[in-house]
Amino acid sequence: MTSPAEVQPVTQSDSPVSDSSARPVLLLTRRLPDAVEARASRDYRAVLNPEDRAFSGQEIAARAAEVGADAVLCCAGDRLDAAAIAALPRSVRVLATFSVGTDHIDLEAAHARGLTVTNTPDVLTDATADIALLLLLGAARRASEGERMIRANAWTGWTPTQLMGTHVGAKRLGIVGMGRIGQAVAVRARAFGMTIHYSNRRRLAPELELGATYHADPEAMLPVCDVLSLHFPATAETRHWLNAERIERLPPGAILINTARGSVVDDGAVIDALKRGRLAAAGLDVFENEPNLHPGYRDLPNAFLLPHLGSATVETRNAMGFKALDNVDAVTAGRPAPDRVV
Ligand code: DGY
Repeated sequence: MTSPAEVQPVTQSDSPVSDSSARPVLLLTRRLPDAVEARASRDYRAVLNPEDRAFSGQEIAARAAEVGADAVLCCAGDRLDAAAIAALPRSVRVLATFSVGTDHIDLEAAHARGLTVTNTPDVLTDATADIALLLLLGAARRASEGERMIRANAWTGWTPTQLMGTHVGAKRLGIVGMGRIGQAVAVRARAFGMTIHYSNRRRLAPELELGATYHADPEAMLPVCDVLSLHFPATAETRHWLNAERIERLPPGAILINTARGSVVDDGAVIDALKRGRLAAAGLDVFENEPNLHPGYRDLPNAFLLPHLGSATVETRNAMGFKALDNVDAVTAGRPAPDRVV
């Protein structure tokens, strides 16, 4: 539990005209970009987390109670399970998450409690699609092996057979989950000459499909995926979706890309396939139980690993913060939230 002494003092308004006591109390669970914290502190009695300490769900609820929060701006790493939501004070009306993913929040419990939950769609589409392409190229072209060789002073010079990777052009990219991010990945991959296949609950309109081949059944698509990129939400149903059986349906030497959530792949099966060369490589930005990823990945030269950087650009993180604040503004003013999830 957080002691009252650990709670940061409520930021007072620097505006001479506003009555600070009338402004709602907004708890920010993590440190956010300066511009976002500045707006939060201007418009709310904002409780910041300048040390950027990660709090458990129960600690967040305790902090919210101590400061009498009207709104909580939380982040992807905050586990707001049913128990934490039950422990939130009644004063809290909105949980605005600084993420598009909402798998860290028990939405049913929040809904039952009458809380509005909002997320930040759209603004991180391009940044996340860029990272998917970085992972694809990094994994296919053995970028981290090359980088490590240079840093270890182990590069003895160019040779015709050194670190030969896989050419991505003319390969087939299979996208599971063709929402905003999946479509943005397809646009980028086409520029590399890849052929696009996708599976989605609904087939896209031709102007969005842009010639991609639709597979109603993702299982049926797997045999044509030289590269498989995952873009669907983490739920109880999608947990470990990519398992040993599905990996066996991929062409030998396929490449896996994951920018969605770590829990949608079975790490044991992926690691085993990478060890055997059944998967040539994997580019992973997300992991089950972050930051404590499966240790088996660390020793694999053909795993290109990033620490959940999908949305990590200044522009994107500012836009995410402003979107989260737009949602808090709406709910605290009694208006419908633009990005309401429940
Ligand atoms: C999200 O928004 O869900 C991302 O994973 C955080 O960058």
